[in-house]
Amino acid sequence: MRIIIKDNADEAANFVANQIALYLIARPTLVMGLATGETMRPVYARLRQIFRSGEAPSMEFISFNLDEFISVPKSHPGSFHAYMESELFRHIHEPRVRCFIPDGMANDLPAEAGAFEAKIKHHGGLDIQLLGIGGNGHIGFNEPGTPFESRTSVVELSQHTRDAIIGFEANRPHRAITMGIGTIMEARHCLLLATGEAKATAVKTMLSQPASPTCPASALQSHADLMIVLDRKASSRLTDLQLLDIDPF
Ligand code: GLP
Repeated sequence: MRIIIKDNADEAANFVANQIALYLIARPTLVMGLATGETMRPVYARLRQIFRSGEAPSMEFISFNLDEFISVPKSHPGSFHAYMESELFRHIHEPRVRCFIPDGMANDLPAEAGAFEAKIKHHGGLDIQLLGIGGNGHIGFNEPGTPFESRTSVVELSQHTRDAIIGFEANRPHRAITMGIGTIMEARHCLLLATGEAKATAVKTMLSQPASPTCPASALQSHADLMIVLDRKASSRLTDLQLLDIDPF
C-alpha cells in the first residue's frame, strides 16, 4: 500500500488523473473502473485536459462505473449516467460502445447486476479501479455490514449515504446497483482518492482498524496493489505511525 499526501484537493486530484494517464500511456486498451462523486470532478477535469492535449490516449480504453441509482432515469441530472456524460463521456470518442454503467432502470435488476459482472470478466477484468470513500467508509455503494466477498448487486442505501446525495430536490433514491467489494478487490490496481475534512474519520478507520465489514473500505488493506491519495485535510486524523508508510513520491 502506498499513501500519497498532497497539500490540497486539486493537487491530489491532479495526481490521481496523472496516474491514470500513465496507465493509459502504458496500455491504451486499459479496462478502468470509474467512480463518481464530488471528489472525482477535478480528476475528470484534469483527465479531459490530458485527453485534449493528447498527452494520453483516450480512444481505446474500456470503462465500468462502480454504481448507479435504481429508478432514476439516465437523463435525470442526479443520475451517474448524467454525471459521467458531462464529466467525461461527451468529451471522448464512441463512449456508448465501451463505457458501461449499471442500468438502474432495468426491468430485471438482479439479471442486470449479473450481466454487468459478466461483462467485466468478458473484458478480462479491471486493470485499475478508481475509488472514492463515503463518510461512513463505504466504497461504491457497499454500505457498512456488506460482506467483503460481495459481487455486483442491488443494495439499499443507508440514511447517512442518502443524506449526502446531491442533485435531487426531493425523492432521493433508496436503492442502487453497485459493484461488490469482491468485484472491486479483483481489480489489479486500486486508486482511492479522499479529500476534505469530512473524509478524515473514514480514512483513519480504513487504515488503522482491523479490516471489518463495519468499514467496507478496510477490505482494501489486503489489496495487493493499492494507492491512496489524500489531501492534508483527509489525512489529518492519521497518526505519525501510519504516516511512516507514506511514499515520499
Ligand atoms: C457515492 C459513490 C461513491 C463515492 C461516494 C463519495 O456514494 N457511490 O463511489 O465514493 O459517494 O462521494 P463524494 O466524493 O461526493 O463525497
